[in-house]
Amino acid sequence: MRTKIVAGNWKMNMKWVDAKSLLLGINQYVNTHKPNCEVIVCPPYPYLDNATEILSGKVQVGSQNISEYEKGAYTGEISAEILNSFDVSYAIVGHSERRSIFKESNEQIGEKVKTAIKNNINTIICCGETLEERQSDNHKKIVKEQLEAALADVSDKDIANQVIAYEPVWAIGTGETASPAQAQEMHQFIRREILESKYGNDLSDKVRILYGGSVKPGNAEELFSKPDIDGGLIGGASLKEDDFASIINAASRTQ
Ligand code: PGA
Repeated sequence: MRTKIVAGNWKMNMKWVDAKSLLLGINQYVNTHKPNCEVIVCPPYPYLDNATEILSGKVQVGSQNISEYEKGAYTGEISAEILNSFDVSYAIVGHSERRSIFKESNEQIGEKVKTAIKNNINTIICCGETLEERQSDNHKKIVKEQLEAALADVSDKDIANQVIAYEPVWAIGTGETASPAQAQEMHQFIRREILESKYGNDLSDKVRILYGGSVKPGNAEELFSKPDIDGGLIGGASLKEDDFASIINAASRTQ
């Protein structure tokens, strides 16, 4: 059985004073309620070190991005080695905002995944189509291209520790969610076709595939009840302690 994951992607939000109180609140919630899912928080880079201390191991800490380069003269970049030295266990890679605003290519994302894994950071690999790509019925083709490039150097040994996040671009921050049936259809396609053709049936069954895009307390349980939806990557709702707690609770209930 796959343990569900609820991961919060804070993006570029929160001053430290607010971030600290949210981290303390999440820590308290998780310690009190002991959910049977994994919880990951991905705050902005400067908060990662404090976050690993405040979250006392029960909640894992992830970065929102990672450099594809190992080390050296790359001003402004953060390497996998640096993140690993701060007990960061996950990195979000290939988020649609990185792809569209910062023009990250599929190949670059593949390099990021490779460097992360080499330095013991597990990846949350994002994929997802735009509205135009869905309307022209290209959504599966796009997701396949994105994931094949991202997983190009991921071996059988490492795949089970990587996480995939399907986030249709048209559902991110828009209040619009893929219906549970639409999400399940894509998740099943990712598992049974993309992953299975490369890694076989058993390993594909082990990979957690999260849904992201306007997940809220009111829709989390229905989404997480679908057989191939193993939790969520949460943006806006991860900034509110009560909402995030209630999504964690939904993942726990549907485990
Ligand atoms: P959202 O963002 O939950 O605010 O739609 C999700 C994401 O971008 O990871």
